[in-house]
Amino acid sequence: VYKAIILVGGPSRGTRFRPLSLNLNVPKPLFPVAGHPIIWHHLEALSKIKGLKEVLLIGFFEDSIFHRFIDDAAREFPKINIRYLREYQSLGTAGGLYHFRDEIQRGDPQQIFVLNADVACSFPLKEMMKFHNTHRGLCTILGTKVAREVANKYGCLVAKPESNEVLHYVEKPESFISDLISCGIYLFDCAIFNEMKKAMQNKKNQVDQDQFMDHDDQLRLEQDLLRPLAESMKLFVYVTNDFWRQIKTAGSAVPANALYLEQYLETNPERLLKKESDGPTIVGCVYKHPTAFVDPSAKIGPNVSIGPRAVIGKGVRIKDSIILDNAEIKANSCIINSIIGWDSKIGTWARVEGTSITNDQIVITQNGVKVPSITILAKEVIVRDEIIIRNCIVLPHKELKTSCHNEILM
Ligand code: GDD
Ligand code: GTP
Repeated sequence: VYKAIILVGGPSRGTRFRPLSLNLNVPKPLFPVAGHPIIWHHLEALSKIKGLKEVLLIGFFEDSIFHRFIDDAAREFPKINIRYLREYQSLGTAGGLYHFRDEIQRGDPQQIFVLNADVACSFPLKEMMKFHNTHRGLCTILGTKVAREVANKYGCLVAKPESNEVLHYVEKPESFISDLISCGIYLFDCAIFNEMKKAMQNKKNQVDQDQFMDHDDQLRLEQDLLRPLAESMKLFVYVTNDFWRQIKTAGSAVPANALYLEQYLETNPERLLKKESDGPTIVGCVYKHPTAFVDPSAKIGPNVSIGPRAVIGKGVRIKDSIILDNAEIKANSCIINSIIGWDSKIGTWARVEGTSITNDQIVITQNGVKVPSITILAKEVIVRDEIIIRNCIVLPHKELKTSCHNEILM
């Protein structure tokens, strides 16, 4: 028997996902990419593991946040029991695992997957399982290579070339250590709970010796658990060359969307919009919800997702964008590298455009000022006819009557 945990985090961490998480009941893990909530893709990958019966979402959002998602997912993935366990406050990336250890170990699972929620990935879970059984470590971590300049934004790994045993694990190092990084996807033996107990005890001992520290139930998976695991030679890395990307900012949902759509082309081409003689012009991968309408004279793609009940008018051009539920794009407008929020309305002959981000750790700056690269219109934004919006973030309920660029519009 296997189990899986998805670390969903909580509301206070959602700040970078503004404005899409602002004023909304959609927390980041449920933001739709390629037609499904971010963590739906995790569930889909987990549902392919034989013997995996239960997935626990652990976080500190209010309970009600995941109700509907769990109901829907239970119908789609009937073989897995999905539940949300709520931390009474943010306990850190391993605090929840420790706090709910009895619940997690119930049913005596052999091994446990732990997945960060905020990643898009091909999830090579079976490959990780196979590799895990070839070594004597307690944990297999999924690793990938990234560009040198961005490596220090992640957990960095140095591993033995032959065995892939991790020699050093350093979370977000100040200087360059390695371009092999942690994807935030782990497979643990159940004996990990003993290590967690030790890590918790170590923390307590430190607090007892230091009169300025207060004890809390926080535990960091990376620094408090993985680092000592590496030191005791119990951590191994499975390196993937498949796709992986973090979803931190709202803008990074756009490249994540593209990755999953391209994966559909390989694994589930039926999910993509097909070219039809009397239908719109389709370029590359496009997802359209069955309830959305796209005018046959529109040209859509590549890398576009169109949500439920959205309406795309005549002569509209959309590429590299996410159009959310019930948005309306009127005739002859053009949307590129953008997210169009729920119930937003774009007039005719308007242009909403961002700049593509290949790596969102590299911030585009103009005269020393950060410039949004993907244009994001939050919920219920109105863009009047013939208006041009370039590289902007627009907060909910704004009506734009003049053209803007490189701005955050409150
Ligand atoms: N339950 C719970 N409780 N989850 C949490 C908490 C918490 O207190 N804090 C963060 N999380 C969840 C987040 O929702 C996210 O899915 C995951 O844990 C990691 O989030 P961060 O703590 O923000 O770390 P990070 O994303 O900057 O870095 C982590 O992921 C990288 C890969 O994406 C680290 O594990 C890095 O080593 C790794 O490279
Ligand atoms: P690909 O479709 O990318 O292969 O190349 P293309 O040469 O057809 O150009 P593309 O459709 O990507 O569009 C280039 C630019 O032309 C866009 O940035 C739009 O501004 C504009 N454009 C193209 N087609 C339309 C359209 O049907 N309506 C509107 N409003 N603009 C369009």
